[in-house]
Amino acid sequence: MSFFVTFEGGEGTGKSTQSKLLADRLIQNNENVVLTREPGGSPGAELIRTLLVTGAADRWTPMSEVLLLYAARADHWQNLIQPALKDGKWVICDRFADSSTAYQGYGRGLDLGFLDTLYKNTVGSQKPKRTYIFDLDPKIGLERSNRRLEKTGHAAIEGRFESLSLDFHERARQGFLKIAEANSTRCKIIDASLPPEKIQEIIWSDIVILGLVPRI
Ligand code: TMP
Repeated sequence: MSFFVTFEGGEGTGKSTQSKLLADRLIQNNENVVLTREPGGSPGAELIRTLLVTGAADRWTPMSEVLLLYAARADHWQNLIQPALKDGKWVICDRFADSSTAYQGYGRGLDLGFLDTLYKNTVGSQKPKRTYIFDLDPKIGLERSNRRLEKTGHAAIEGRFESLSLDFHERARQGFLKIAEANSTRCKIIDASLPPEKIQEIIWSDIVILGLVPRI
C-alpha cells in the first residue's frame, strides 16, 4: 500500500531525525519507502532549494519566496512523489505544503486563499494521509538548529531562515498549531521537547493504530 506521510514544524524540532527513524522502521517491516524533503527532493527542486536557504534574509520578497517554493514543489510532486505513490510506495516527506502555510502565510502574511490556489494547481486535491506537527518553543529550536549548522559548517550557507526574527518563528509556530486544529483528522501534534526514543514510539504506535502497518 502507498501512504504519504509528512513531518512539519519549526527549526530544530527533530523532525528530520524522526522522519528517518520512521522510514528505517518501515523498511525493517518490509515496506517500500521513499524518504524525501522540501524544499528539494528532486534534482530540479534541489537547485531551487539552494536559492531559498542561502543568502540574506531579505533576498526574496514573500511572493517571490512562495513562488520559488511552489516551483520546487511542483517539480518534486510530479517527478518524485506522485510516481512513487502510483508505484505503491510509502513517501515520507520532511516538510511539505503546511510549511508554506505556516512560514509564508502566517509568518510572512501572504493570503492563505492564494496559497490554497497554488496547492490546488500544483499538487491537486491529494493531501498527506498523516502529518506530524513537531511543536517546540522557537527559542529552544533555533538554538538547537544554529548549533547544528555551526557544527557542520553550514551556518554561512544554509542559515537564511534561521536568521529571521524570533517573532517570525513564533508566528510560524502559531500557524502550525492553527493548521493542526483545522485539520485534526490528518494532523497530530508531537511535543518535540520529549526524548527522541519516546517520540519514535508515539509515532510508531500512531502508524499501527491507524492501521497503516499490520499489528505484530
Ligand atoms: P529545512 O531546514 O527543514 O531543510 O527547511 C529549510 C527552510 O525552508 C526552513 O527554515 C523552513 C523553510 N520553508 C518554508 O519557509 N516554506 C516551505 O514551504 C518549506 C518547505 C520550507
